[in-house]
Amino acid sequence: MRGKVAIITGSSMGIGKATAELLAQKGAKIVINGRTESRLLSTKKELITKGYDVLAIVADISDTEGAKKLIHKTVDEFGRIDILVNNAGMSSRGYFDELAPEVFAEIMQINFLGCMYPTKFAEPYLTATQGSIVFISSVAGIRGLPETSIYCASKMALTAMAESLKVELSDKKIHVGIVYVGITKNDPGKKVINKDGSYLLLKDRAQRKTQSPEQVASAVVRLIEKRKFKKILTFLGKMNALANVLFPRLVDRILIRSKEKIRKLNT
Ligand SMILES: NC(=O)c1ccc[n+]([C@@H]2O[C@H](COP(=O)([O-])OP(=O)(O)OC[C@H]3O[C@@H](n4cnc5c(N)ncnc54)[C@H](OP(=O)(O)O)[C@@H]3O)[C@@H](O)[C@H]2O)c1
Repeated sequence: MRGKVAIITGSSMGIGKATAELLAQKGAKIVINGRTESRLLSTKKELITKGYDVLAIVADISDTEGAKKLIHKTVDEFGRIDILVNNAGMSSRGYFDELAPEVFAEIMQINFLGCMYPTKFAEPYLTATQGSIVFISSVAGIRGLPETSIYCASKMALTAMAESLKVELSDKKIHVGIVYVGITKNDPGKKVINKDGSYLLLKDRAQRKTQSPEQVASAVVRLIEKRKFKKILTFLGKMNALANVLFPRLVDRILIRSKEKIRKLNT
């Protein structure tokens, strides 16, 4: 990683921040990003105090101008891009029949287009370095789950993009990877998009079995170092993927029976 330049979208907190920090520990110059300036600058300060080479860019990657700003400012400052981790994303809450139509647009805009735009603008620079593009998906992107339908759809769309890009970019020797993350311990400020489109502070998930953001970061960095395509995290995530292929009707029955329980866990 020494001397490489890594952009991690949505890295002022959570999994993105842990991934940025691990890449920096391994010697990369890191570009952190988020929409909220105060939080991004406090993360930058924390990382600089630890001695890392950090550039912080406030930009909304769900619009083309924000994504362009992120990529071009990185190249202006560091002259190259070796790694793009498309991490920024938000989850949704509510059954489909309760969701305001604006929620569909916002989730797809952040989780799907918010990965496409930075990838599009970074691609020429990644071609020059034969770099890596990584998509942060979710175990909810393997099988559609109740309560988070549009979130699941946005993450499944990333699978199709990653598969297509892996083939299209193979001649340019760009590595493409996708990580399916299981439920992860969150920072206190984490928000999700509620059924009416408002932002909702996520309740404490200390009671639930979670992995740490650092565990996710290790898996992401290992995938980059080994230039692997796919990684599914957590035992539950792996079981979900396997059972969905081997016993899809059983999985349907289990989910139908437990959908209210899942809803309670989420709210
Ligand atoms: N946590 C989990 O349990 C879990 C499970 C599976 C998958 N994942 C996936 O892992 C990724 C990170 O999740 P997390 O829980 O670490 O998230 P998080 O704690 O909510 O942090 C999200 C980060 O993304 C930034 N962000 C959100 N929208 C953005 C936008 N439009 N433009 C730029 N930055 C934006 C946020 O900052 P601002 O709000 O200031 O912009 C923040 O830095 C997401 O893609 C998520 O879907 C998470």
